[in-house]
Amino acid sequence: MNRFAWKGHIFQTNDDMKIEIFENSWVLCEDGICKGIFKELPEEWKNAELTDFGDKIIIPGFCDLHVHAPQYTYRGTGMDLELLDWLQKYAFPEEASYADLEYAEKAYSIFVTDLRRSATTRASIFASLHVPATELLMEKLEASGLKTYVGKVNMDRNSPDILRETAESSAADTDRWISETENRFENTKPIITPRFIPSCTDELMTSLGEIQKKHKTAVQSHVSENPSEIKWVSELCPFSDFYGDAYDHFGLFGGENCKTIMAHCVYSDEREQKLMKERGVWIAHCPQSNMNVASGIAPVREFINNGLKVGLGSDVAGGSSLSIFRAMTDAIMSSKLRWRLVDPSLHQLSVDEVFHMATRGGGSFFGKVGAFEEGFEMDAVVIDDSALYTPKKISMHDRFERLCYLYKDAKIVSKCVSGRKIDLG
Ligand code: GUN
Ligand code: FE
Repeated sequence: MNRFAWKGHIFQTNDDMKIEIFENSWVLCEDGICKGIFKELPEEWKNAELTDFGDKIIIPGFCDLHVHAPQYTYRGTGMDLELLDWLQKYAFPEEASYADLEYAEKAYSIFVTDLRRSATTRASIFASLHVPATELLMEKLEASGLKTYVGKVNMDRNSPDILRETAESSAADTDRWISETENRFENTKPIITPRFIPSCTDELMTSLGEIQKKHKTAVQSHVSENPSEIKWVSELCPFSDFYGDAYDHFGLFGGENCKTIMAHCVYSDEREQKLMKERGVWIAHCPQSNMNVASGIAPVREFINNGLKVGLGSDVAGGSSLSIFRAMTDAIMSSKLRWRLVDPSLHQLSVDEVFHMATRGGGSFFGKVGAFEEGFEMDAVVIDDSALYTPKKISMHDRFERLCYLYKDAKIVSKCVSGRKIDLG
């Protein structure tokens, strides 16, 4: 039995999306599972491995529900175009480079190192269409100790020759890759990843639906991100009533044994939201990307009111930052613009709500993850925010809010995933 306990100021959210604060308290972990938060260390835990982090902050690890690993190389550049042109000019040519394993080795080492050192403990990741480079990324993630889903991307239309499969080869590669990797790793799992409808023919989508049924693999994709994209999908799939319905047509939009993340949902209307609710689809809200590629402002308050499952995504390199702290504050700021410019009846998001999305919201995709409740997997991040100090007396809640906005001046000093300590070097 492996037991340890960490002491500090513990922050988490409850099911009502409110922050709970436990000052100078212990969080207990036994064999990777959280045993709850205690003001006093229980007598029988005195012999466990004990670490008192003093005045530091302990939070559940963040979940990044949507990020493109091969795009990490050009993060922070190429912000002059909107989605469809941006894909052609920046994303596709860069992703084509991952046919070269030497390049993939360098690029994915940097991506995994930065993710490992961040406050993120879990992620759902797009790779490129190349199976060898995708497996290399999976190996690196497994070695990091993080828990992730990784998708070999499927695309057989509307991309340059250097980044396009045939429906047949894409499906065959995906089936083989899932068979070879679904049990190979402890912490790294394959996820079926049709890039988006404009990249995948009906023939390929039909095959992916069959592969999904056979392996019961999770699914991730993009939906209703950009107006031109949505119009194009309605032309490409005249049988669909709305964008999400096109995925559903092929059995790739949630439901039993088909755990699904859909990124963006900026323009998801009532029908699409209803179907997401029925099918239990997780929404990956990616505010920075939505601003960078000028997609729009997602109606997150509506999602919450409608009881949809919402997590946050960095969506690098649509988003420039891998930080989920940044995604949290961007979500607040973009919600204020929606409130001001689009719908004054739906109030802006609070720091409590975005913290919930970053932890419990996205965490539920991975199981009992995202809080220090008894029985949850122990994903924790310890943060030294002493560099943010102010002589002003502030509440613990304000201290946490400042950390979200000023995270770059704070330091992550310890991190564990399912109780396993992560090397931050
Ligand atoms: N839609 C299809 N591919 C992509 C991508 O790489 N990034 C974003 N933001 N949207 C997409
Ligand atoms: Fe994306």
